[in-house]
Amino acid sequence: MNRAQPQPAPAVKSRLSGKVERFTESVIREMTRLAIQHNAVNLSQGFPDFPAPADIKRAAQDAIAADVNQYAITWGAKPFRNAIAENFQRTQGVTVDPEREITVCCGATEAMISTMMAIVNSGDEVVVFEPFYENYGPDAILSGATPRFVKLRAPDWTFDPEELAAAFGPHTKAIILNSPNNPTGKVFERTELEMIRDLCARWDAFAITDEIYEHMLYDGAQHISLATIDGMRERTITINALSKTYSVTGWRVGWAIAPEDVTSAIRKVHDFLTVGAAAPLQQAGALAMHSAPEYYESLAREYAARRERLLGILARAGFKCFKPRGAYYIMTDISAFGFPDDVAFAKYLVKEIGVAAVPGSSFYNDPADGRTQLRFTFCKTEKTFQAAEERLAKLKARA
Ligand SMILES: Cc1ncc(COP(=O)(O)O)c(C=O)c1O
Repeated sequence: MNRAQPQPAPAVKSRLSGKVERFTESVIREMTRLAIQHNAVNLSQGFPDFPAPADIKRAAQDAIAADVNQYAITWGAKPFRNAIAENFQRTQGVTVDPEREITVCCGATEAMISTMMAIVNSGDEVVVFEPFYENYGPDAILSGATPRFVKLRAPDWTFDPEELAAAFGPHTKAIILNSPNNPTGKVFERTELEMIRDLCARWDAFAITDEIYEHMLYDGAQHISLATIDGMRERTITINALSKTYSVTGWRVGWAIAPEDVTSAIRKVHDFLTVGAAAPLQQAGALAMHSAPEYYESLAREYAARRERLLGILARAGFKCFKPRGAYYIMTDISAFGFPDDVAFAKYLVKEIGVAAVPGSSFYNDPADGRTQLRFTFCKTEKTFQAAEERLAKLKARA
């Protein structure tokens, strides 16, 4: 048998992947590390500092004790996929087949990258609203997509329909939508979703929607899944997770709901990336997804109170706040503090004042666009708010 001859080594061989060199480590996660280093109050990364619901934790403990400790089916344990399907039917009225249209992944994070890798070919473009959750940038690079950014503009984070239309074209493979939105708190309205639908139909593009904050809504805002908009069911990949709704960001359990052909492709990528999400936590997830309506109502109520609390603290400390209608972040304008940029201010805040927040630039393709913005999270306890309030009072005196 002829063996392939060894190829001569290229003249210049990069030690590391060129893709990896095109993005930095997560700024959000770095701020958490800085918060620990400086013993600062952490209002940067979006994880709750209060306990997860007791019954859900007990279900996970019981599953481990009952030896649900081996691989689940790679695309998700059946009871959990059934629960996800029932939940989507109950909340959005969309019927999905748990056998053919759901892939359980390691968090929404893996659901997103698996989806991108499943549908993107080189030369494909992906439309992304900006500011954007910082993972979408590296997701695009890793999957080989070219991002096309469309601005959401403060104070109410609307977009220019013409700018959106101009971002679509023959190479558009998908649009990434995150509603309720991190970092802006925008909740997309039906008319906006219909505009997106029209463009997806015109250019034969998918929509990948990250709906991880679906239950955190304020001032009467309503979450509409893009898959419910006429004509979108077959074009939409809906991503969600246990992480935020059940306060278990460390469990790493999420999912993607997609048409059958897309799901088979996502399942292949997911299988070879991770094999599967934690089996005992999927069992607990099945119980979580059957929580009574009161659970979701009180979740939204408690977050509404936390939003008011943090808005008050930030306003008193001199921040201009953009009031969110969903999710659990507040974007602020920091121009009044007179720092050269958001990173300098965030570093000062964490080191000298003792409060960690995320520099706005980490949510933009061009860092200059976020240089007057800083994001705070309010998924925190009253004790954390009190500590933040005391420390930020020093800031006002110096500003
Ligand atoms: C919009 C958005 N999507 C996804 C994630 C990550 O989700 P998971 O922890 O389930 O991977 C986050 C976390 O902050 C987020 O804000």
